[in-house]
Amino acid sequence: MINNNMIRIGIIGLGYVGLPLAIEFGKKFNVVGFDKNPVRIFDLKSSLDKNKDIKKKQFKQSKKLNFSNNLIDLKKCNIYIIAVPTPITSRKKPKLKYIKEACLDVSSILKKDDIVIFESTVYPGLTEEFCVPILQRKSGLAYNKDFFCGYSPERINPNDKIHRLKNIVKITSGSNNYTANFVDNLYKKIVTVGTFKASSIKVAEAAKVIENTQRDLNIAFVNELSIIFDKLQLNTYEILKAANTKWNFINYQPGLVGGHCIGVDPYYLTCKSKQVGYNPKIILAGRKLNDSMGVYISNKILNKMKMKNIKVNQSKILFMGISFKENCSDFRNSKVFDIIAYFKNKCHSLEVYDPIVDSKEVYKKSKIKLIKYPKKNYYDVILILVRHKFYKKLGVNKIINFAKKNSVIFDLKNLFIKENNYIR
Ligand SMILES: NC(=O)c1ccc[n+]([C@@H]2O[C@H](COP(=O)([O-])OP(=O)(O)OC[C@H]3O[C@@H](n4cnc5c(N)ncnc54)[C@H](O)[C@@H]3O)[C@@H](O)[C@H]2O)c1
Repeated sequence: MINNNMIRIGIIGLGYVGLPLAIEFGKKFNVVGFDKNPVRIFDLKSSLDKNKDIKKKQFKQSKKLNFSNNLIDLKKCNIYIIAVPTPITSRKKPKLKYIKEACLDVSSILKKDDIVIFESTVYPGLTEEFCVPILQRKSGLAYNKDFFCGYSPERINPNDKIHRLKNIVKITSGSNNYTANFVDNLYKKIVTVGTFKASSIKVAEAAKVIENTQRDLNIAFVNELSIIFDKLQLNTYEILKAANTKWNFINYQPGLVGGHCIGVDPYYLTCKSKQVGYNPKIILAGRKLNDSMGVYISNKILNKMKMKNIKVNQSKILFMGISFKENCSDFRNSKVFDIIAYFKNKCHSLEVYDPIVDSKEVYKKSKIKLIKYPKKNYYDVILILVRHKFYKKLGVNKIINFAKKNSVIFDLKNLFIKENNYIR
């Protein structure tokens, strides 16, 4: 049994999820924030969060938090919280490499009475069927006798300044009654709006994965509507605005589904579903549709170019936005890359302008060099693909000035909806 004054927390994986968690727990308990990436630890030690989520001031407020990439520093902890990535492979299967490595590391330092809590998004059953055996094997400890587990999924939204860790109800769970209560009380210390104690780890795992799957499907539905309305030459946004005046119409917008949650998590659920003999139909249909939107949008742009007699092979295209969503520096799995890939070898030149993302990181991962600022009267096509506030501030007139007289300006997310007479 761990009493409150003995609590020492080790947080494994300090990305979008792990760092805010470490910051909050570090205000109340001794915390070691551990990450395999030495550069990340170097930055965090000097209070720098490259994700632009945590400010210097917040690092200072977390007085009991230390950072390390040395496993030995985690040895004195008795609560381990794992927040490593759970992506998919190129064949859209769960890639469990990171969670396996984290479990192997923790198993080498696990002691009697320790609790291991998982925050990574997984399929129902992964904690107890995949992680627990790894933890048992190397440590030689018995599950639910010598050590215990919990699962508390993260629901934060990258770079969302309103919905933060502290004000989102946190689902908690544990491997037995005692642990479930312990985990629940632990999170209550940092989540001001309270917690929801699920009846089991599997229930908590399933709840998280369906939240994102539901969102993916709802977006797939409006994406399908936008395809139908395009054919009918109707403006989808105008229709959605009208329909949204009904109290029970759910307001979703069409668009590209990227990032490493919404477009990934449904595959965790469908993988598990297949394992138990059911081949999901609706979930996979939604995924297929959302994954095809990049090519659909590219064809739409191409048609607009043809209508204006703009020759693709002579065209200069400006991409505005490369991150997977608005006002966010995260560009992993951004579907804008699908549109870039479509035009890359077809057009004369292609430039990308996104001041929100880290240009060095983009170059490192994709070999795409971002431009510092667009040229005037230069582009045949301007694609506004991400709803960054920055572009809104820049204003439609400046954007139009980047384009040649005969040009296509494509505003995917209707950022300039009120001024859309200018958008051509
Ligand atoms: N980003 C979100 O908004 C969000 C929201 C809810 C849930 N999630 C889930 O949370 C989990 C983490 O996501 P994230 O966005 O924080 O990922 P991230 O890529 O931002 O951060 C993960 C960190 O873990 C580190 N890491 C990888 N393997 C490690 C290991 N074996 N030991 C120590 N550190 C290791 C990486 O270096 C990286 O810094 C994923 O399962 C994700 O699906 C993310």
